[in-house]
Amino acid sequence: MSRYTLTINGQHKTVDVAPDTPLLWVLRDHLQLVGTKFGCGIGQCGVCTVHIDGLPTRACQTPVSTLGNKPVTTIEGLSADGTHPLQVVWQDLDVPQCGYCQAGQIMTAAALLKKIPRPSDADIDTALAGNLCRCGTYLRIRAGIHRAAAIINKESV
Ligand code: FES
Ligand code: FES
Repeated sequence: MSRYTLTINGQHKTVDVAPDTPLLWVLRDHLQLVGTKFGCGIGQCGVCTVHIDGLPTRACQTPVSTLGNKPVTTIEGLSADGTHPLQVVWQDLDVPQCGYCQAGQIMTAAALLKKIPRPSDADIDTALAGNLCRCGTYLRIRAGIHRAAAIINKESV
């Protein structure tokens, strides 16, 4: 076991875990941040996506020992009170079906909107290609991202 002090959602958290423990396990089992889901565990589905240093990253494929001082943001830290434009729009448009994949979808989409404030359909499809949805909500996800982009860019929706 080793001791790590991590920066998660703007707060310092100390955990005592094996160096190869995936960040996903640290979040869910040690810090009770269960908004980030476990799906495939092999980097193929995207449900465990969090931001590390602002970049969308698979938490299941990130050993805790590789984090250093890089800040981690989970779905719980995307906004203080669930009012990130993507979270608002997701409710307005009823984007989720079962909901299991949606934290990962939103985290990937949030990173995309920071990088490309007005993404095209092709930008969205490329950025979210690794985030699978067994319920097939892809068209609502795309519509939600466009609407969130309009809110962020203060265009009429
Ligand atoms: S659980 Fe991490 S990519 Fe599927
Ligand atoms: S909403 Fe069910 S897996 Fe995406």
